Amino acid sequence: MTPMWPGRSAIESPFARSERRPTAASRTAAPSVTIIVPTYREVENLPHLIDRLAQVRDAAALPLDLVIVDDDSQDGSAELVAARSEAWIQFVVRRGARGLSTAVLDGMNHARGDILVCMDADLSHPPHVIPQMLAKLQEGADFVVGSRYIEGGSTSDDWGFFRWLNSRVATLLARPFTALQDPMAGFFALKRETFERGRDFAPVGYKIGLELVVRCRCERVVEIPIHFEDRQFGESKLTFRQQLLYLRHLRRLYIFKYGHWSQLIQFLVVGGLGTLVNLLCLTLLVGVGVSVQSAVAGAIVVAMCFNFALNRRFSFAQARHGSWVRQFLTYAAASSIGALVNYAAALLILRYAPAHLRGAALGGIAAGTAFNFLASRYLVFRLAHVRLASNERSTRS
Ligand code: GDD
Ligand code: MN
Repeated sequence: MTPMWPGRSAIESPFARSERRPTAASRTAAPSVTIIVPTYREVENLPHLIDRLAQVRDAAALPLDLVIVDDDSQDGSAELVAARSEAWIQFVVRRGARGLSTAVLDGMNHARGDILVCMDADLSHPPHVIPQMLAKLQEGADFVVGSRYIEGGSTSDDWGFFRWLNSRVATLLARPFTALQDPMAGFFALKRETFERGRDFAPVGYKIGLELVVRCRCERVVEIPIHFEDRQFGESKLTFRQQLLYLRHLRRLYIFKYGHWSQLIQFLVVGGLGTLVNLLCLTLLVGVGVSVQSAVAGAIVVAMCFNFALNRRFSFAQARHGSWVRQFLTYAAASSIGALVNYAAALLILRYAPAHLRGAALGGIAAGTAFNFLASRYLVFRLAHVRLASNERSTRS
């Protein structure tokens, strides 16, 4: 499989590929654990993080190693780790690539442990719960999260209202994918075999935990309460751009999980928005004195163009490199036939149930929408002409 994210070739690592996999002998011993920490400019936090992990390692007598995936911070992090020269720590530098999620995936591909744990470098996540996380995996969990939002979990008091609200809305949008209360968490653990059954990773932005839960099809998810500490040193890299990327990430996951159903859902959402556009336009046109007949016609045309543009961009994005003129003309033709289907179905229903005027209208709308969807899917935005172009794009984006 071709990796969907850039930069793997730019990784520098002291470990040859063959050394990364656990040997048969090491598998029979207690499972080994690799902690993966993505970093960007965390030089002030690293010594504390390493000390805390070393404590857990000694106290629980764990075969634990650490992979730090740094996006070429150039802030002294590399020198700091090199100066400690501790054999259980790997410092991986990525050049030319940036991003938390891809850093974590690269770290997982470097990891030698049977169990993979991911956490932030900024001391927000308490390492002392790692043994509890491992115990849950041993008991059969697929994915264990250090959670802020189950009973016993908490966040620092100085979280502003907006950060809190933001996190809550983001969490709600992820509801269809997982039962986790804290699916946004950056502190989680899973077995290597679970990671290896995941495919088509295409993360954008920050939510690598959610990406893993969905793509590795984790069913048995468990949460352990943690207190999420605000960072003391350095600054957060979570920008507004990252929030927008989250919406794009969600859309990808919906498509992955729901396949063709996600096309229908997007088509229906676009249709709903188009109805609003139609009503808005109608009101405006009548308001500025346009005759009712012309206003109705104008509103239909505007809404149809709106629906076309959104369906081309989202619902049937795989065909967005085809000729838009040809697509627009077929779309307009199909929608007109759709209107006739709507009309005919309503009349047909009325013939058998003359008393149900509104029911007949709704039945007509349902039939017309179904026709429009099928025509859009199989005629207007069909893949045959564009498969090559869209494949090329998807490996690049
Ligand atoms: N390699 C690499 N590349 N690491 C990065 C990058 C990057 O581009 N951006 C951020 N990191 C590292 C940071 O150095 C830190 O170790 C970790 O990723 C988290 O970054 P923060 O900037 O501290 O993120 P946050 O505190 O806003 O977000 C955390 O909490 C969120 C929930 O509120 C993360 O754990 C998120 O995953 C989580 O959703
Ligand atoms: Mn942080």
